[in-house]
Amino acid sequence: MGGIGSGDFWQIGNEIVGLTMAAARVYPDDRILDVGCGLGRVALPLSRLLDQRGSYDGFDTSREYIEWCTRSLPVDPARFRFRHFDIQSSHYNETGAIAAEAFPFPWPDQSFSLAIAVSLFTHLSAAAATNYLHEIARTLQADGRLFASFFVLDEQSRTLAESDTTDPRFTARFDEGMIGDPSNPEAAVAFNAEWLADTLASAGLVFDAFYPGRWRHLPVMSHQDILVAHKP
Ligand SMILES: C[S@@+](CC[C@H](N)C(=O)[O-])C[C@H]1O[C@@H](n2cnc3c(N)ncnc32)[C@H](O)[C@@H]1O
Repeated sequence: MGGIGSGDFWQIGNEIVGLTMAAARVYPDDRILDVGCGLGRVALPLSRLLDQRGSYDGFDTSREYIEWCTRSLPVDPARFRFRHFDIQSSHYNETGAIAAEAFPFPWPDQSFSLAIAVSLFTHLSAAAATNYLHEIARTLQADGRLFASFFVLDEQSRTLAESDTTDPRFTARFDEGMIGDPSNPEAAVAFNAEWLADTLASAGLVFDAFYPGRWRHLPVMSHQDILVAHKP
């Protein structure tokens, strides 16, 4: 199945979980929300780190991905749950019935201790990203952590994006950042650093760390930029 990105699926899953452990910690009793879980690339390595107290909930707008996760991943279905929601996305679910900017996550406040969103905000409009950051904050417990990836436009990366030398390419500006393809705006989205900092704060999340990614021509493990934050 396409849409997840190139490279070794399992190895990248292990690397993402390794980065999550290093940057945001993973505890055996974590209750994890994986937003835009795709084909559950991080679920299998996480299943080796969580004990019986821990749990994992992943959701995605692709029915096909969620069906595959449910059918094929060798994880305990009582503690590793995958759910599909028919959320609209120009890239992943064009005819979806639910607007991403108005989608309330169907979990009560403070349900999770760790939220993971890898290569998800790089496929959301600014309005959807704002909603998702607010919903992540709402569903995190106090001291809960967020490990998320973005394409962040700051002085360095904006110069590269404008000189058309990034992978992916960003060709068109909008108020909050740049997109790769105006005919498919959610194929690749980069946000302005200032906008992201303001939106994170307005959601009630506190910035902890930022790790620039390989898309900026840096010799680092993660292709996308990594952002770590927590709910105070
Ligand atoms: C590049 S894939 C990454 C999947 C997974 N996080 C990983 O790292 O393997 C992006 C995922 O985000 C999902 N997605 C895109 N827009 C979404 C939305 N509004 N809500 C939930 N999932 C979404 C896609 O269906 C796709 O599975």
